[in-house]
Amino acid sequence: MSLSGRYRRILRRRAKARFEAECETRPRNLDVQDGVRVHRHFGGGTLRVGDGVQIWRGVLLLLQQPEAVIELGDSVFINFDTKLVAAERISIGPRCSISWNVSIIDSDFHVIDGQQAVRPVTIGEHVLIGAQAIILKGVTIGNGAVVAAGSVVSRDVPPGTLVAGNPATVRRENVTWV
Ligand SMILES: CC(C)(COP(=O)(O)OP(=O)(O)OC[C@H]1O[C@@H](n2cnc3c(N)ncnc32)[C@H](O)[C@@H]1OP(=O)(O)O)[C@@H](O)C(=O)NCCC(=O)NCCS
Repeated sequence: MSLSGRYRRILRRRAKARFEAECETRPRNLDVQDGVRVHRHFGGGTLRVGDGVQIWRGVLLLLQQPEAVIELGDSVFINFDTKLVAAERISIGPRCSISWNVSIIDSDFHVIDGQQAVRPVTIGEHVLIGAQAIILKGVTIGNGAVVAAGSVVSRDVPPGTLVAGNPATVRRENVTWV
């Protein structure tokens, strides 16, 4: 193996060990690239991660409040530079695939009209989220759904539907994806 190949393997091992140390769970078969960050804004927060999760470079998991929770089910895949920002809870079910540059945020993070809205985000099983989509506070995405690239999802997505646009609306039903 080349020197750079060996160096990459060492970096990958270190990244994985650092990430495992952040998890409340003891996930097996993680594949976490160097440059994945877990940031605890006030020092607390809980990260629960299932087995076989893959997370690529530049992904940020931000636990904004001490009681914030991020949950990733078994075999979740998260592509480059995606950001999950949780003040309360972001839950992603097993076998979801989340593309690059996606933002998932469960709060407005500012006081608007005298209130700071915080509502958990729940993503079901086997959901596909396309590149550069934004998933906003309070949204539940049903099992098997597909979110098209660049969508802004501000309302719930029924299971097995394809949503697209800003705001995202249902474009097709009974979709399947692999
Ligand atoms: C979701 C996706 C796979 C759907 O592709 P498709 O099956 O060819 O979509 P369709 O043509 O059936 O789309 C249905 C409708 O939604 C619209 N639509 C599809 N994707 C859209 C998008 N990203 N933004 C806005 N509208 C979109 C289509 O124009 C069509 O509208 P119409 O019925 O008025 O003509 C595709 O749009 C997409 O987002 N691909 C990128 C996925 C991605 O990010 N992959 C990276 C994985 S790591």
